[in-house]
Amino acid sequence: MKLQHIDIHNAITALSCALDLVGVDEVRHGKRVAIIARTIAQHLNWPEAECLSILYSGMLHDCGVSRIHEHHQLTETLEWDGAEDHCIRGADYLSACQPLAHLSAEIRYHHTRWEELLELAVDRRLSLRANLLYLSDRIDMLQAPFMSSGRILIEYPAIIAQIKTLSGILFAPELVDAFVEVANVEAFWLAMEPEYLDEDLRRIGSHIPTTLLDIPALKELARLFSRVVDAKSPYTDEHSQRVAHIARQLAIDFGIGGYELEQVEIAGLLHDIGKLRVSEDIIDKPGSLTPEERATMHRHSYDTLRILQRVFDDSKIPEWAGFHHETLLGDGYPFKNGTKELDLECRIIAVADIFQALAQHRPYRHSMSLEYILNDLQMRVATGHLDAEVVAKLTDNAELYYQLAVA
Ligand SMILES: [Fe+2]
Ligand SMILES: [Fe+2]
Ligand SMILES: [Fe+2]
Repeated sequence: MKLQHIDIHNAITALSCALDLVGVDEVRHGKRVAIIARTIAQHLNWPEAECLSILYSGMLHDCGVSRIHEHHQLTETLEWDGAEDHCIRGADYLSACQPLAHLSAEIRYHHTRWEELLELAVDRRLSLRANLLYLSDRIDMLQAPFMSSGRILIEYPAIIAQIKTLSGILFAPELVDAFVEVANVEAFWLAMEPEYLDEDLRRIGSHIPTTLLDIPALKELARLFSRVVDAKSPYTDEHSQRVAHIARQLAIDFGIGGYELEQVEIAGLLHDIGKLRVSEDIIDKPGSLTPEERATMHRHSYDTLRILQRVFDDSKIPEWAGFHHETLLGDGYPFKNGTKELDLECRIIAVADIFQALAQHRPYRHSMSLEYILNDLQMRVATGHLDAEVVAKLTDNAELYYQLAVA
């Protein structure tokens, strides 16, 4: 278990894949914005540290967007009236996450017109960084429709011309000038293709000194992403954070400590990260799901596993999080794992997940009483789905766990 060996570049790159899932079929937006912003920053000879930091804020700039409908609005119009909400939310999430707090202010202003930034008298370096994110974001919005068809090589002069008309209004003239200089060649646009994008991000990562995250920093990063996931729906408000608290307490009751305990908590925080790909129309649906909707919903724990494998290569976190819908009987998903494959930590997270979900109001039912929940868990033990010892530990201290779930 090498939890202490997580590198920040790798963690941000991998977790930004989860943010990019909110686009559903329009993925990699954050990564393209990151590469566009860094390319322009380098052309302007910004210090290397600032070029790297703009790469990270590019990948994270839309961390305030959890809902697919909001994502669509942002990618359909050049300026959308509701754009500021996700800037405020994203800045709020980042400011609470110590390793990324320094990116919070530029994310706050990443949809603010340049002429407004001048009026607000925001610090000039900060204004430029925020506005570079805005510019890169809008360039990507304009190019995205042509990416898959390859028409971008025909369309890019029109995009450059359109951006030029916004110089001094939406965007800082010096940023627009730099963009025009670097984007006037095919190579700029071809670098946005998925395999080249991923390669470039890997290459950048291999050329910078490794910055390792300590455990508190890693937990703050996990908490940030749990907030993005929980904001997907009002019905899942604080779900991941509460599952993490319950799982941590259960693990302590089982005598688990040290790194293992921290990993249980992180797995709890991130267990639903794959849900970012599921439309809120499905999550918020009051009735039963159609077979197609259920299939979409059922892929989320697999997506969780794959995303977390990229971050926590050498740890059990991906499995403990990704197996939370498996059952001891082997009729869960997505692997149909059974008793043999499910560590105590997986069983703990599965129980914590169901316990918290039942205690929470959902679109298709009200929150359940403690008595009802304990009965329900007992039934799941009797049918061979949940671990008897884990449910017994929770039942021993039921009031405390109920507090952790809803209070
Ligand atoms: Fe945005
Ligand atoms: Fe964006
Ligand atoms: Fe789940």
